[in-house]
Amino acid sequence: MNNIFDSHAHYDSEAFDADRKELLSALPTQGVCGIVNCGSDMASSLKSLELADEFDYVYAACGVHPHEAEGCKQGYISVLEKLCKEKKCVAVGEIGLDYHYDFSPRDIQQRVFEEQLALAKELDMPVIIHDREAHEDTFNLLKKYRPKGVVHCFSGSAETAKEIVKLGMYIGLGGAVTFKNARKPREVAEVVPADRLLIETDCPYMTPVPFRGKRCDSSFIPYTAEVIAEVRGVTPQEILDLTRANANKLFGLEL
Ligand code: NI
Repeated sequence: MNNIFDSHAHYDSEAFDADRKELLSALPTQGVCGIVNCGSDMASSLKSLELADEFDYVYAACGVHPHEAEGCKQGYISVLEKLCKEKKCVAVGEIGLDYHYDFSPRDIQQRVFEEQLALAKELDMPVIIHDREAHEDTFNLLKKYRPKGVVHCFSGSAETAKEIVKLGMYIGLGGAVTFKNARKPREVAEVVPADRLLIETDCPYMTPVPFRGKRCDSSFIPYTAEVIAEVRGVTPQEILDLTRANANKLFGLEL
């Protein structure tokens, strides 16, 4: 298969320390044509930019993840703005709310999320959204700022997915659709319009079946595409083709 565009990855993770270069050099031979590596704080945003510099087909998203919101230094937003203006930065992300872990207090998560939504608006850049068990607050802030972008690893209901699409956003689906008892993600995979679907790994996490327990990388995406294709009644290659075209459009690329 080809045209694999991984719209959400973390190759800066220490899980790839042993073989990052070899792996990223080899992925294009396995059909991977594009990767957006997402930052979660300043250091990983910088690392994402470095990877994007080193590998033609890798792009960066720069942003502060809700887990890291509390650690934000005063003035971080102007540092982030500089990173976002780098040539290969294609989105502000990943940003959002996580009420499952609550690693940062919710009021701080919300403030840092809003500051970054405002930055994305100002720079006219797409956002990559992380929403875990915070669907209502996330939705309300998306309604307020109306960014372009994607809700990654979408974990809401099919109904919520339709509402998000109505706001003009894309829906990112990953390994979770392959999990046993993945009723909700599969319902979402069925209802998202063809021009609003993105595919992703969130690697090294979210390894699809049948490789659960192993480290994930972008070459596993065909297993996710297979499940999405099955519920939509098309071929896996068609899913890869359309998610590549959608990623190009959202991130303003000509791949
Ligand atoms: Ni992520």
